[in-house]
Amino acid sequence: MNKHVEFSEPHHPRPQWRSRMGFILAAMGSAVGLGNIWRFSYLCYKNGGGAFLIPYAIAMVVVGIPLMVLELGLGHKMRGSAPMSFAKVNRHWEWCGWWAVTCAMFGIMLYYSAVIAWCVNYVFFSINLSWGADTKAFFFQQFLQISDGPLQIGDIRAPILLSLMTVWGVCWMIVFFGVQKGLERANKIFMPLLFCLIAILVVWSLNLKGAMEGIRVYLSPDFSQLSRPQIWIDAFSQIFFSLSLAFGIMVTYASYLPRKADIVQDAVVISIGDCLFSVIAGFAVFGTLGYMAQALGKPVSEVVTQSIGLAFVTYPEAISNMPAFSKAFGVIFFSALVLAGLTSGISLVEAFSAAIIDKFHFSRKTVVSVVCLTGFLGSIIFTAKSGLFWVDILDHFITNYGLVIIGILECILVGWVLGARHLREHVNHAGGIVMTRFWDISVRVIAPAVLGILLFNSLHNEFRAPYEGYPWVSIILIGRDWVVGALIVALFMAMYPWKRALESEEGSGLHNKS
Ligand code: ALA
Repeated sequence: MNKHVEFSEPHHPRPQWRSRMGFILAAMGSAVGLGNIWRFSYLCYKNGGGAFLIPYAIAMVVVGIPLMVLELGLGHKMRGSAPMSFAKVNRHWEWCGWWAVTCAMFGIMLYYSAVIAWCVNYVFFSINLSWGADTKAFFFQQFLQISDGPLQIGDIRAPILLSLMTVWGVCWMIVFFGVQKGLERANKIFMPLLFCLIAILVVWSLNLKGAMEGIRVYLSPDFSQLSRPQIWIDAFSQIFFSLSLAFGIMVTYASYLPRKADIVQDAVVISIGDCLFSVIAGFAVFGTLGYMAQALGKPVSEVVTQSIGLAFVTYPEAISNMPAFSKAFGVIFFSALVLAGLTSGISLVEAFSAAIIDKFHFSRKTVVSVVCLTGFLGSIIFTAKSGLFWVDILDHFITNYGLVIIGILECILVGWVLGARHLREHVNHAGGIVMTRFWDISVRVIAPAVLGILLFNSLHNEFRAPYEGYPWVSIILIGRDWVVGALIVALFMAMYPWKRALESEEGSGLHNKS
């Protein structure tokens, strides 16, 4: 029996990527995001420069590639979004798929879109170097007009709201047109453009005076750091977030692949491509910081600041100090951030929309329009004067708890409920690079154990002191309750009956208990 037909309703055939390259670019577009351009560089610096690359590479082999194979394999085998694929393994696990896509869409995407909106504003600020001499005061006081704390919400900042509307408008337009005409076409334009912009930035910054000092700081290894547990935790969580794992995105994207697909090879290409992008973008960031350090006569260590500050405070200062064409450099840098953010943003919207379409069989155009409008309305809270605090708290809770717990559950589902061997046999079908039995061990034991340690450590730190010293009430309301709220929504969605009966994969030994 033709399995493709088996899962495709005659009236609603499952969309499919036009080409393999289209799929790889879309998956890379999802993985390469705001996190790659500055978060990776900062983590590298914080964790002993080049020494960070060792745990980072280990994290990629131990968790990154195995989970990427798991998600792509599951989506490809089950031909469904995360809730549908999870439900096809076992009906009682559908809620977990909903939790992943709800955290992605109504957790991450809400604040992610606000940060992309800041970048859009900064593209325009670059044209006149509007941030002036005091970039810190400009960002916090003039642009964000930051309030005194997370619960002093304050007014909405009109310039941010305007950019936010544009960001959601663009996401809506792309996802609205579907897999081939929307997602694939947009990524085929945006990703090569992003690669070009980053290449220009790397070459440009490496040619600046003092750049090599920045690169030396970036890459010189301090091996003593390897004995600190935090370097390992940072490396694993960065791999997890950066590869868009546990968002339900890779499952959904792989469900649009044709039956004959080389899942393992694609997973390796996407994972290594994302990591290489981070490492290469780091050269642009540190080359520029090296230049700035020599221009200000300070050591590089004194000009590097924490993640958000690096992009919106330190970088604008470096741009203002450029010897020539500083405005063009600023426009290119912030446009690269916008492009990287948009290609990840559309994947977050798609993961949730595809789940609704699979379950309720509404038309894509209606679903995407309602989802984007709701998302836009929800993200307005991040344009208020307290927006930065909300971004910080929500990001911390969703990435440290929501995604990590979902990652562990995914490993249990595939490793133990479905059986890792079944999925391994499926992904090895294409015959190119094959997964050995080590993959089974990774999925069943190593990855969940490592993620469990990450989770334990985060919980331990959480109870010791409130995150970043924020008041407990704001941490509970904005952080914990958001993750729990997404779980409650997920449980409700899973309880709702399927419009059409789920079919299990023929001959795969699946336990469909619907
Ligand atoms: N993977 C995306 C990023 O790194 C979400 O920003």
